Amino acid sequence: MKLASRTASIPASETLAITARANQLRAQGKDVIGFGAGEPDFPTPRHIIEAAKKGLDDGWTRYTAAQGHPDVLKAVAAHLNGQFGLAVEPGQCIVSVGGKHTLYNAMMCLVEPGDEVLLPAPYWVTYPVQIQMAGGVTVPVSATAENGFRVTVADLERACTPKTRGIILNSPSNPTGAAYTEAQLLEIAEFVKARDLWVVSDEIYARLAYDGFKCRFFGTLPGMAERTLTVYGLAKTYSMTGWRIGIAAGPKPVVEAMGRLQGQVTSNPTSVAQVATIAALTQPDDFIAEWITAFDARRRVMVQRLNAIPGVRCNLPEGAFYAFPDLSAYLGRSWRGKVLANDWDIINLLMDEGLVALVPGSPFGAPGFARLSYATSMANIEKGLDRMVRVLGEVE
Ligand SMILES: Cc1ncc(COP(=O)(O)O)c(C=O)c1O
Repeated sequence: MKLASRTASIPASETLAITARANQLRAQGKDVIGFGAGEPDFPTPRHIIEAAKKGLDDGWTRYTAAQGHPDVLKAVAAHLNGQFGLAVEPGQCIVSVGGKHTLYNAMMCLVEPGDEVLLPAPYWVTYPVQIQMAGGVTVPVSATAENGFRVTVADLERACTPKTRGIILNSPSNPTGAAYTEAQLLEIAEFVKARDLWVVSDEIYARLAYDGFKCRFFGTLPGMAERTLTVYGLAKTYSMTGWRIGIAAGPKPVVEAMGRLQGQVTSNPTSVAQVATIAALTQPDDFIAEWITAFDARRRVMVQRLNAIPGVRCNLPEGAFYAFPDLSAYLGRSWRGKVLANDWDIINLLMDEGLVALVPGSPFGAPGFARLSYATSMANIEKGLDRMVRVLGEVE
């Protein structure tokens, strides 16, 4: 069978590939420490699971409206409003099969072939692939570790052309954990208005911020509601990665178009996951504060230990659960005669010789860096860092 040409431009997800390789080594009996996966290590809270079980007994087993069951959309709107101050009605919300699916729907509904989309780098690997699938052109706008992995308006202005139509924001960010302050977001909002752009603001990590950092939803800034599609989801905040619920909220015509697309592709996300969504968004969520305390302790240990490795530099991230160290001091050097030409070589060395799984920075648009998830136990963090220290210590 001859594949359609568009499949050639769809790479496999590098983060999933690293996890698969770590699992392969584990299947051979090797004790691999995984810093690759982007999912919390906590179980889904019990009350959400119980609500899903009861939901099945109550008949949440059938098709719902493609955009989501009305009760779910009501809970979504009330939560986005109450928790984040986003003024949306249920009809401005849609639930999809995970945040990835939400973003795909958004790109398909917003990007015309040839449109340029600004993408602050380092960026989550999926965005440029989805922009390309929609026929758009990604224009990466690099932010450096020195300015906290946050782009400035001057950076964005330089990247603008007459074909620029939109921008994807992701704060706190995967892979850097960097979060924009309200003052910085207000400056970006001015730029967005002046350039007449749309914004897809991926706020999936908004609750997971440290040291009291308050994430402000971009769509709540003055004048931004009508140009912003907010993307949210349950995977990270509620440890519900496998349930596959993504959320979008914003201008009705965009959300309705996403609903029409979804109605022809997947129909509704699974009804049992929808009833679980109502429980997640409407019942007390004190567990989140406990998880943040645990993540915070791990964040500090991981970053402190990374910075103690000669040549490695790592910012203390404001949110999410990733550290993003600069390993470029090891490029061009060698391990037992083998030259480390790029970040993949470093990551493969750490995997093969140290049995520790990291994701290289290049797929995130940041060659020479690496992403480590600290959504794992403190014991694993200590053990994995010991291994990194040993292997990198052997590099000449
Ligand atoms: C920035 C960002 N957005 C969206 C997602 C999508 O999450 P999911 O499809 O699991 O809901 C992820 C997951 O890694 C992410 O890191």
